[in-house]
Amino acid sequence: MDSFDVVVIGGGPGGYIAAIRAAQLGLKTACIDEWKGADGRPALGGTCTNVGCIPSKALLQSSENFELAGHGFAEHGIKVKGLELDLRQMLSRKDKVVKASNDGVLYLFKKNKVAFFHGRGSFGKSPSEVTAGGETLNAKNIIVATGSSARALPGAPFDEKLILSNAGALAMLDVPKRLGIIGAGVIGLEMGSVWRRLGAQVTILEALPAFLGAADEALAKEAAKVFAKQGLQIELGVKIAKVESKKTVKVQYAAADSSSRSAEFDKLIVSIGRVPNTEGLNAAGVGLKLDERGFIAVDGDCRTSLPNVWAIGDVVRGPMLAHKAEEEGVAVAERIAGQKPHVDFNLVPWVIYTTPEIAWVGKTEQQVKAEGTDYRTGTFPFMANARARALGDTTGFVKFISRKDTDEILGVHIVGPYAGELIAEAAVAMAFRASSEDIGMICHAHPSLSEAMKDAALAVDKRALNI
Ligand code: FAD
Ligand code: NAI
Repeated sequence: MDSFDVVVIGGGPGGYIAAIRAAQLGLKTACIDEWKGADGRPALGGTCTNVGCIPSKALLQSSENFELAGHGFAEHGIKVKGLELDLRQMLSRKDKVVKASNDGVLYLFKKNKVAFFHGRGSFGKSPSEVTAGGETLNAKNIIVATGSSARALPGAPFDEKLILSNAGALAMLDVPKRLGIIGAGVIGLEMGSVWRRLGAQVTILEALPAFLGAADEALAKEAAKVFAKQGLQIELGVKIAKVESKKTVKVQYAAADSSSRSAEFDKLIVSIGRVPNTEGLNAAGVGLKLDERGFIAVDGDCRTSLPNVWAIGDVVRGPMLAHKAEEEGVAVAERIAGQKPHVDFNLVPWVIYTTPEIAWVGKTEQQVKAEGTDYRTGTFPFMANARARALGDTTGFVKFISRKDTDEILGVHIVGPYAGELIAEAAVAMAFRASSEDIGMICHAHPSLSEAMKDAALAVDKRALNI
């Protein structure tokens, strides 16, 4: 029986990063992952690489290019004649981007001497034994990083032909004329944007009465306004009653005013959240505790109920984000090696890659208000930023929230061009507990979108320079 210091079950961003960090620290490490590519070969990188972050961003970029060529270039004096969509090519490019990322992880495993086992991993007779495909491994430490899967609507299982999970939503061979989406969360908005840009008429049905409830209200309001203008139809406060699929999908639901409605779609994406992957792990057999929602129960340091068994990423509490999984993976590997790392969950940034992009880090104004903290805000619109005007994308704004007494930044919220890149400055500043005045005193290149960060920070003290 092979013995390892660390065996990681799951090769997504949580698991593969944990394995690499453990190996860097001199620990004898193995990673087990069962994902297979279309060719049946290992496809490391998990949900994120295969049917999540990476392919969705590839299609978001391609579909944005298509929309710009059709509707955005004319303003720049570029005339496009005979514009055509080659969806097969777009999907094949996406598959290549995915494959390059799969191979990248395999390369990193070889480089760092992480032993890779392709197959299902499961606890064996004891919590220090793991079966990997046909083999049994002995492990001093086990990190469970098995991720999550799409949640189905009751009575409407995914068939990936008419009722699609994220996997089907990223692989439609034709643009549906009428696309229905249940759930106006992150996947609903990103996938809805892709297929709307490619020509689908998109209707999103959302259970909650408020749009993007987790975001700062000002951001959610601005985004809702722009999405409506783009033609994304979003209905809030609905209750899905029945989903029937034959050649099309018929959805019956109660609208916010309680009236009964029905809608017919050519395809339906269901994006109502995700469930943790714990099946087949033999968790019950070894006494690994799950919480009331089916996630592996962990403490703040990702320790499970069993000694030397850790769990990270989507299979545990907290936001289901690749970079959160990675941070936990690094921290657990370092804890196993005897170090004392720290993950600040308040500084995990969110980015929604729609147009406009939506990004934030830290607290929303509603949260700060509810906590009773005295605060000031500063907002700066991209309309007043020279680089945004040159880009031809002046939608949205940057909003800073700072403590009234010390000026420490509590949250930064951006809706607009490259919000997902700009947010990094805010995360760095907050990690160093900077004040908004600090950002206002730093030289930002001109003309750049980052100047909107500086101006919003100055606006906290009512001294923005460009408005
Ligand atoms: P996963 O990535 O789910 O990886 C788990 C791996 O473990 C998989 O390969 C699985 O096959 C394997 N596995 C499971 N059980 C076993 C077993 N018993 N034995 C062996 N292997 C097993 N997050 C972002 O931060 N940014 C984004 O832009 C983003 N976009 C997304 C878009 C979509 C459409 C989706 C669905 C998700 C997106 N996410 C995004 C979320 C992100 O994908 C997840 O948070 C992230 O993948 C979680 O990483 P993980 O390592 O915990 O699990
Ligand atoms: P989500 O939690 O973001 O959104 C689900 C939405 O569905 C919510 O608004 C919820 O109120 C709604 N909903 C739930 N049940 C419903 C029902 N029965 N009828 C109608 N609406 C219902 O989950 P989503 O979009 O499935 O994505 C899963 C996770 O993947 C996200 O939470 C996020 O963590 C991650 N992700 C991250 C991305 C990014 O970082 N850019 C991109 C895509 C996904």
